[in-house]
Amino acid sequence: MVRPRTRTPDLAPSPSADPASVRIAYAYLASATLWLLVGTAAGLLAALKLNWPDLLPYSFLSFGRIRPIHTNTVFWGWSSMALAGIALYVVPRTSRTTLWSPRLAWLALWLWHAAAVLGLVTLAAGITRGPQEYREWVWPVASLFGAGVVLNGVNVYCTIATRRIPEIYISNWYILGAFVWLSILFVTGYVPLYQDGLGNIVIQGYYMHTAVGMWFTMLALGLSYYAIPRLLGRPIYSYALGVLGFWTNMLFYTLIGAHHFIFSPVPWWLQTTAILFSVGMMVPVWTGAGNLLLTLRGGWARVRRSYALPFLFVGVLFYGIASLQGTLEAFRTANIYWHFTNFTVGHSHVAMYGFIAMVAWGAVYGLVPRLTGREPSPVAVGVHFWVAFVGFLVYVVSISIAGVLQGFSWVAGESFIASVIAAEPMWLWRTVGGILMVASHVVFAWNVWEMRTHPSAAPESAALEEQPA
Ligand code: HEM
Ligand code: HEM
Repeated sequence: MVRPRTRTPDLAPSPSADPASVRIAYAYLASATLWLLVGTAAGLLAALKLNWPDLLPYSFLSFGRIRPIHTNTVFWGWSSMALAGIALYVVPRTSRTTLWSPRLAWLALWLWHAAAVLGLVTLAAGITRGPQEYREWVWPVASLFGAGVVLNGVNVYCTIATRRIPEIYISNWYILGAFVWLSILFVTGYVPLYQDGLGNIVIQGYYMHTAVGMWFTMLALGLSYYAIPRLLGRPIYSYALGVLGFWTNMLFYTLIGAHHFIFSPVPWWLQTTAILFSVGMMVPVWTGAGNLLLTLRGGWARVRRSYALPFLFVGVLFYGIASLQGTLEAFRTANIYWHFTNFTVGHSHVAMYGFIAMVAWGAVYGLVPRLTGREPSPVAVGVHFWVAFVGFLVYVVSISIAGVLQGFSWVAGESFIASVIAAEPMWLWRTVGGILMVASHVVFAWNVWEMRTHPSAAPESAALEEQPA
């Protein structure tokens, strides 16, 4: 007999945080949702243009402009605001205190909004730093975002420094680390030192992978280490593995940037170092993914009844899959086929959607109803999950096949147009997947509205809630 899904424990409302933190967390989340809609609409338009190049033939909507609008908006608007917003709730809660300065968090949010709006307008106008992926924003725009990162980092640091318990919970290691690394990264990426010729390429590689590895990955892992045990009602499998993952991420992740430029004029020894450290990455990846999956082990009944845990489970699983895929891609023998192809676009979405977005959604659905006292309809959450998941699978499978077809065609020495003809049907499937993904984001936006803050919500202090583990 099929048992109907009931309202799950992780969706049960229990408003218990101080009103200032609730409003901030929700403001970050609502802002992130807005940028998710804008950013993925741009992604869908970019996909449509690969199928129908004459669609909307305006210069500000040309593929070359809409692509960086898509990537920068989903990176800095959606993913950063969503993960940071939940982090600003998790840090005080696990430190048994209140957020050090709500004002600073608001100021940082407005700086991020200003950067996202100006970034969108300047890129649409063709004002850009050129082919420097994820740092196309001109420096005045990026400085606004960087200032917001520093302010939030100070806030997180001071909140942890004023904690009311002796230890620092593992989530906070990851979250604080993320803010420190992104601050360093913005300085390294934008200060014009060593940025000529090959120096620029080396810094570009470092920039790309530190952004995804030491910012998004660190935040998503930090939130998973809070949300998964919290929703399961049991401690993490191993605290020690969490600490090992933290230090080995720092050791290996920061030295793999040159794997983006295999067979380029970047020194051969540097490429080889990056490949070796990409293999070393399996240590933090499987200590992290393994630790979280082992925490979930035995809790499947709870996962099946929950609407938040399936997002988190899929997220952790795809963290492992994306990283394994990345390590394989770094080897010279594989890179010769996959580099420059759509296979890397597939890898980007496996990681940034299958891992990062899924973890963000799981944390939102698991934690926000507790904050605001309002929950979305379980059916709508289920629709969001399945439409996003199916759309994502259609996207990554089709675009990865396109990448393999392109790689084989190029290695065989065929003309470029032959690879375009081979990949074109797959681009159509990617667009179908993208339509489903964007549709699921509209459902998510509705769910976020349903979870909106109640004027009289949150009577108690965040400091009173117990630690998750
Ligand atoms: C063990 C971990 C990982 C390794 C070894 C790895 C490896 C790679 C390699 C070799 C490339 C470049 C492929 C090429 O251009 O030929 C790449 C690209 C990329 N990776 Fe990963 N990856 C890992 C994990 C991740 C994670 C966790 C994320 C996101 C959170 C991520 C996001 C990306 C993105 C966005 C790109 C595209 C960069 C571009 O625009 O060129 N990767 N990765
Ligand atoms: C949270 C959601 C998303 C994130 C974080 C994301 C992230 C990314 C990233 C990092 C890239 C650069 C890939 C690379 O250079 O290797 C990219 C490119 C792209 N994305 Fe997304 N994406 C998302 C959703 C979507 C959706 C829904 C679509 C709709 C079809 C889409 C379509 C595209 C297209 C067409 C490109 C350009 C590919 C190319 O240059 O050939 N993305 N996206």
